[in-house]
Order: sequence, then structure tokens, then C-alpha cells
Amino acid sequence: MFIVFDGPDGAGKTGILDSVVRKLRENTDYNIVTSFEPGGTDTGQEIRKTLLSGKTIPAPMTELMLYIADRADHYEKVLKPNLEKENTIIISDRYWESSIVYQILERKVMDLKSFYEIHKLITNNLKPEMMFLITSDKPHKLKGDRLDSEGNGFRDRIVNYYDKLDELELIDYEIIRIQTNQKEWEQYQKQIIEHIYRIL
Ligand code: TYD
Repeated sequence: MFIVFDGPDGAGKTGILDSVVRKLRENTDYNIVTSFEPGGTDTGQEIRKTLLSGKTIPAPMTELMLYIADRADHYEKVLKPNLEKENTIIISDRYWESSIVYQILERKVMDLKSFYEIHKLITNNLKPEMMFLITSDKPHKLKGDRLDSEGNGFRDRIVNYYDKLDELELIDYEIIRIQTNQKEWEQYQKQIIEHIYRIL
């Protein structure tokens, strides 16, 4: 079982994911493996530094290829081996949906079809069973928030692309939208757990 949490920066995605994982570990016998992109592996950590340290700004195609390289490593070292294990749920903080939104729809680095061909090559066409879209009208600011440094309208466009992801033909799995405008973490956690139980 492979589940993804994804969404625009600053909507509380990582906090909600952590609380869901805690609850699942307390209440089920499943082995819960958590992971993230970019940087979920040793090599991925090096790629993450190149992408996000701000020391250099990669060209858009380079940026996409670095996210893809990170994902290839993540797939080989974390996703694939754990998918083969019984009784295991893998929960990833971001996956290919982030590349579709940020690099393909926003930066238009390449067409979706070409990107999908590469995705199939590097992950054997692995898609999650379910994605939770953690989104917010009023995102909180994070230190060095990328969405702000990208200029006017960027954040709104990203939010909008995420909202429309499930209209894409290649998204053939459920996207569950969690809008986090109030700090009702318990309620979001409960909602998400119910959806996960539904597919277990
Ligand atoms: P991350 O540090 O995980 O931030 P957050 O806590 O908001 O999830 O993600 C770093 C940034 O990487 C985030 O701004 C989104 C971006 N990103 C892409 O642009 N493309 C991708 O394929 C991935 C995985 C992330």
C-alpha cells in the first residue's frame, strides 16, 4: 500500500502526516514506513541540497531532472523494497504530483506526456493508491518559503494546479482534499484515518 501526502508549501502537510502516522502506529499492526521527496535517501539528501540550499539556481530543465533523479533513488532504495513487504503501508511526503504541479504545469519544462514516459521508466509506473491534498487558503509562511520568493501569483497558481490535478487523465486514483484553514488537527487526522481504513 502506497499513500502520498502532497500540496502547496505551508499548509501544514508534514504536521498532519506525522500525527496520522502516530495514530496508525498506535492503532494498527501495519508496519508504517514514512518517507519524503526530495531527500528521502542518502543520495537524495545531496540532490536536495543542490535543489533547495539556494547556493545555485538550476535551470528549469536541470531542476526537473534533479527531482526525477531524487525520485529514481527513492523508488529503488525505499519504495520498491517496501512495496514488496507484506503488511506494510508506505506514506510519502510528496511524490510525482509535486513535479507535475511545480515543474510541468507551472514551469512548463516539458509536456505532460514526455514527463509521464520518464516517470514510467524510473518507477515502473508506480502511482499511489490514494493521495491526500493538504491545502489552505491562508498558508503560513515558512523560513525561506519558496512560494514567496517566486513572485506574484505563484502561490495562487500552485494551489489552483493542485486543485485541478484530478482532472488529468493520468491521475487514475483518488485525491482527497483536506483544507486546513483552522488548526483542527485532530479533525483532519480523524478524517484521513477513516479514508485509509476504507482501502486497507
Ligand atoms: P519540502 O522541503 O518537502 O517542503 P514542504 O515542507 O513544503 O513539503 O519541499 C521542498 C520543495 O520542493 C517544495 O517547495 C516543493 C518542491 N518540489 C518540486 O518543486 N518538485 C518536486 O518534484 C518535489 C518532490 C518537490
